[in-house]
Amino acid sequence: MNGIKKVTEKISWIGGSDRRLERFENIFPIPEGVSYNSYFIDDEKTAVFDTADITVSDQYLDNLKEALAGRKLDYLVVLHMEPDHCSLINTVVALHPEVTVVGGAKTFTIMEQFFPEAKEFNKLEVKEGETLSTGTLEFSFVAAPMVHWPEVLMAYEKSTGALFSADAFGTFGALDGGIFADDYDFEKDFLGSARRYYANIVGKYGMQVQAVLKKAAGLDIKMILPLHGPVWRKDIAWFIDKYQKWSTYEPEDDGIVIVYGSLYGHTKSAADAVASRLREKTGKGLKVYDVSGTDVSYLIGEVWRCKKIVLMCPTYNNGIYPPMAAFLHDMEALAVQNRTFALAQNGTWAPATVKLMTEKLAALKNVTVLETNLTIKSALHSGDEEALEAFVDAII
Ligand SMILES: Cc1cc2nc3c(=O)[nH]c(=O)nc-3n(C[C@H](O)[C@H](O)[C@H](O)COP(=O)(O)O)c2cc1C
Ligand SMILES: [Fe+2]
Ligand SMILES: [Fe+2]
Repeated sequence: MNGIKKVTEKISWIGGSDRRLERFENIFPIPEGVSYNSYFIDDEKTAVFDTADITVSDQYLDNLKEALAGRKLDYLVVLHMEPDHCSLINTVVALHPEVTVVGGAKTFTIMEQFFPEAKEFNKLEVKEGETLSTGTLEFSFVAAPMVHWPEVLMAYEKSTGALFSADAFGTFGALDGGIFADDYDFEKDFLGSARRYYANIVGKYGMQVQAVLKKAAGLDIKMILPLHGPVWRKDIAWFIDKYQKWSTYEPEDDGIVIVYGSLYGHTKSAADAVASRLREKTGKGLKVYDVSGTDVSYLIGEVWRCKKIVLMCPTYNNGIYPPMAAFLHDMEALAVQNRTFALAQNGTWAPATVKLMTEKLAALKNVTVLETNLTIKSALHSGDEEALEAFVDAII
């Protein structure tokens, strides 16, 4: 049974979705699953854009066989050498030894590291600006270095306006029967996953994404075909605008997020008190997360969305509570910028985390740490009401 879906008359989706993998890259939880997209070109020549992860190999190889319908495979184009799209390269070449593998110079260096047998492949090396013709379709290559690997290429097909964008514009989330973003309520079904995918996987490379967006601005893009998640053919500008914001580290909205750590519940109670007053005073919703119970990839996603981040942290052996330290470490590693932080500390004998977190946040660019902070001595007390109000007002 094939799972092929037509994108255009000559371009088909032949990928697969995985709903069993617990963590993408063995790091990021993906309860929503993930799709590995591969695109088949049914033209005078046949071509495939990227393979798929080995976890979907049965369906993928079935799809490819059915798409070929007995024809030979002329080209296997490799836009990105990460194994989630490449673990079947050797299998596909073994099945179609006559195929020409198309990629950049760096692509082939990396390919030979993963697959020594790639030395023997028929290869066609392409550079930015060069084209590959399959007869009626012509693909021109656009370099996208460090989005998010060094060798990444994108391919643009002029007659259809299709941009094969590699991992850019991708998202976590299995495809539930539809391959187009407009098959879904994307904002409800995918936006959180798309943001979490972007922030954690591509987030560090905002400058490189900006460079690619500038190149893309010169193309008449009618469709975006990423390697994960749905294909875009409507409202493309809306999604590009998200990328514009995310890659310039502009907050997506003026939201507030509270992330607290708490060993025994007292800092948590204080976080609830801050949240409740913020909601009363602003009339707006906000999100509260327990840093210990929330995978840090979700917190990073929220950092990309929100303008203001409230960190409420116990002092732990004179240091930052370890799960909060891990969150701060990730923000630094992913080069978070342009955010406002409000800090609260708890300590039973020597509260120190406002100072310690401020020092950590100093590593981030264009970040404001509010001067008004909140100190909790073990628990909030009625006498702290004034300080609590001042803290909430400073956040607003
Ligand atoms: C193992 C451990 C180490 C702690 N280290 C410190 C510390 O170095 N300085 C301090 O002022 N409080 C320290 N505390 C107290 C906590 O910062 C905090 O006041 C207490 O856990 C109450 O807040 P909670 O209910 O939100 O956990 C420590 C608590 C624990 C259990
Ligand atoms: Fe990748
Ligand atoms: Fe990928």
